[in-house]
Amino acid sequence: MDDSKIFIVGANGQLGTALRTQYPGSKFADIGEMDITDRASVESFDWSGIEYVLNAAAFTNVDGAETPEGRIAAWKVNASAVANLVRVCQKFNMTLLHVSSDYVFDGTQTPHLEDESFSPLGVYGQSKAAGDVATSLLEKHYILRATWVIGEGKNFVRTMLSLAEKGISPTVVADQIGRLTFTSELVRIIDHLLTSKAPYGTYNATNDGTPASWADITRDIFNEAGYAQLTVSDTTTAEYFAGKVGIAPRPLQSEMSLNKLHATGFNSRNWRDDLKDYISREQNK
Ligand SMILES: NC(=O)c1ccc[n+]([C@@H]2O[C@H](COP(=O)([O-])OP(=O)(O)OC[C@H]3O[C@@H](n4cnc5c(N)ncnc54)[C@H](OP(=O)(O)O)[C@@H]3O)[C@@H](O)[C@H]2O)c1
Repeated sequence: MDDSKIFIVGANGQLGTALRTQYPGSKFADIGEMDITDRASVESFDWSGIEYVLNAAAFTNVDGAETPEGRIAAWKVNASAVANLVRVCQKFNMTLLHVSSDYVFDGTQTPHLEDESFSPLGVYGQSKAAGDVATSLLEKHYILRATWVIGEGKNFVRTMLSLAEKGISPTVVADQIGRLTFTSELVRIIDHLLTSKAPYGTYNATNDGTPASWADITRDIFNEAGYAQLTVSDTTTAEYFAGKVGIAPRPLQSEMSLNKLHATGFNSRNWRDDLKDYISREQNK
């Protein structure tokens, strides 16, 4: 893979950081260098030599997206800005790789297939679904549906590790079921699809392994990190958020079928193996 032909947008986020490590020769920008919601700056950029635009930019605050300002920001970044990227990719014959989410579904079907109809519950999911629609208008596109992303940044595993360090035994929701997606795995999938020149289209892109609840994942984190003495109490999503306002509805079933990805020859890693490696890196920092 000639990484000098790659341009990464949203390069400082969890996925963007992992992509920069994978492709050290790539060109990249985050919002400070290129705000992708600014159509003029996207269109006036010198795209010469670029063949692949990897979109790691997003408005990912699902509860923030339910506020009046957040609703506007989510639609700008997750939908209108994606249309800006689609336009330049079309104009300069570049491939757009865009990252989507299980939140485009209501979580009643399991596992989710790539061609399931959109049924987003909240503003974040609605704006992400609009980004998927925009991306699909381009012939040379990949849409990758990730879930529960864990990398360099604020994420669930880091939050639970920091509670454990303080000796806190948390209450965690046990009725949302899915798999973690480590950015290392997402980057392996991206590299596989690009280097193998897999057919364009939508692919589910998570780690493999038995799906689990957030509460069960927390137990795994605590056991692996040496906090087996702490207990994790189960609750439901409804109970956990009872009385709180401005909370986005969450899909309960987030397991994504990986059959289409595996049919391209990709060998997935189990999320539990990547979790062990991640915790060991965190503890050796
Ligand atoms: N996180 C998850 O659990 C999860 C689950 C499923 C799917 N996904 C999807 O996976 C992808 C990567 O997620 P992530 O966790 O890596 O996200 P992230 O850590 O929140 O990173 C997003 C990056 O995009 C940047 N950005 C925001 N607005 C921008 C703009 N207008 N122009 C350019 N850059 C902008 C952000 O900058 P600032 O920080 O300065 O705003 C941030 O660096 C996203 O498409 C997300 O929807 C995430």
